[in-house]
Amino acid sequence: MTQPLEPALHAPATGVIITGGASGIGLACARALAAVGRPVALWDMNTAKAGAEAKAIADAFGVPAVGLAVDLRDPAAYAAAIAQSRAAMGTIGALVHSAGIVDTGSLDGLTEEVWANGINTHLRPLALLTRDLLADFKGNPGSAIVGIASINATLGHMANPVYSAGKSGMLGLIRSMADRLATDGVRINAVSPGQILTPMLKPTVELLPEGTFERRILLSRLGTPEEVARAVRFLLSDEASYITAAELVVDGGNISSQRM
Ligand SMILES: NC(=O)c1ccc[n+]([C@@H]2O[C@H](COP(=O)([O-])OP(=O)(O)OC[C@H]3O[C@@H](n4cnc5c(N)ncnc54)[C@H](O)[C@@H]3O)[C@@H](O)[C@H]2O)c1
Repeated sequence: MTQPLEPALHAPATGVIITGGASGIGLACARALAAVGRPVALWDMNTAKAGAEAKAIADAFGVPAVGLAVDLRDPAAYAAAIAQSRAAMGTIGALVHSAGIVDTGSLDGLTEEVWANGINTHLRPLALLTRDLLADFKGNPGSAIVGIASINATLGHMANPVYSAGKSGMLGLIRSMADRLATDGVRINAVSPGQILTPMLKPTVELLPEGTFERRILLSRLGTPEEVARAVRFLLSDEASYITAAELVVDGGNISSQRM
């Protein structure tokens, strides 16, 4: 029995919560999803930017869009933000966990605070939010989740032990939750970006000699947030109906490179 192949309409059209939605990859995801008619809720610590970007999205794409002040390190804040998101969007059928921070201390400067900040930003919210949103996802066929991991889930670098632990932990967490979520018809995947030119990476790019990253990357350039957002949009759509527990690497051929 064959199935139709025409990508007539983007489906599902349910609302999407995007953590870290005020900047970089999260913001590009919000705009890419709004461009195909999906309502979006931008959760971010940067309250002013989340509100301004949500307004810009609503104006540009004509979809419900809301910006909410949430510190992902505080699970006590989730219930109210979920209720506000549901009210603003009508439905919640997807989550993109993109909020992230850079490591500051390497191993020698590692403190309990740095560890807690990193893990409670990158890893813990994905587990707790998935738990808290499960009833919404169950009620909306086609619901799906994407965690923004990193090539640092696979590659080792002394600069960022906590970041790497958080991101590789995310891959294991996603594989485990995929088994549980499948029983409710919900998919979950990871997208692992390489070097993407965002406010997070820009200071590093400016610090290093020109072409440092590009030399290793098979496509010889940095990526754009929109190139990651298109992969996320695909994984959240019914076009990806048979994909769960996967890691989609969007790195221009960085991990695969043997270039010196
Ligand atoms: N830029 C890259 O090259 C790259 C590569 C691999 C993975 N990533 C990952 O992509 C994700 C997005 O990164 P980006 O480059 O767009 O960075 P960015 O700095 O542009 O955006 C991150 C956003 O997360 C928000 N945020 C941080 N901590 C938060 C918290 N506790 N609660 C709520 N919001 C919080 C920030 O305010 C910011 O708006 C991150 O998880 C990052 O680790 C980025």
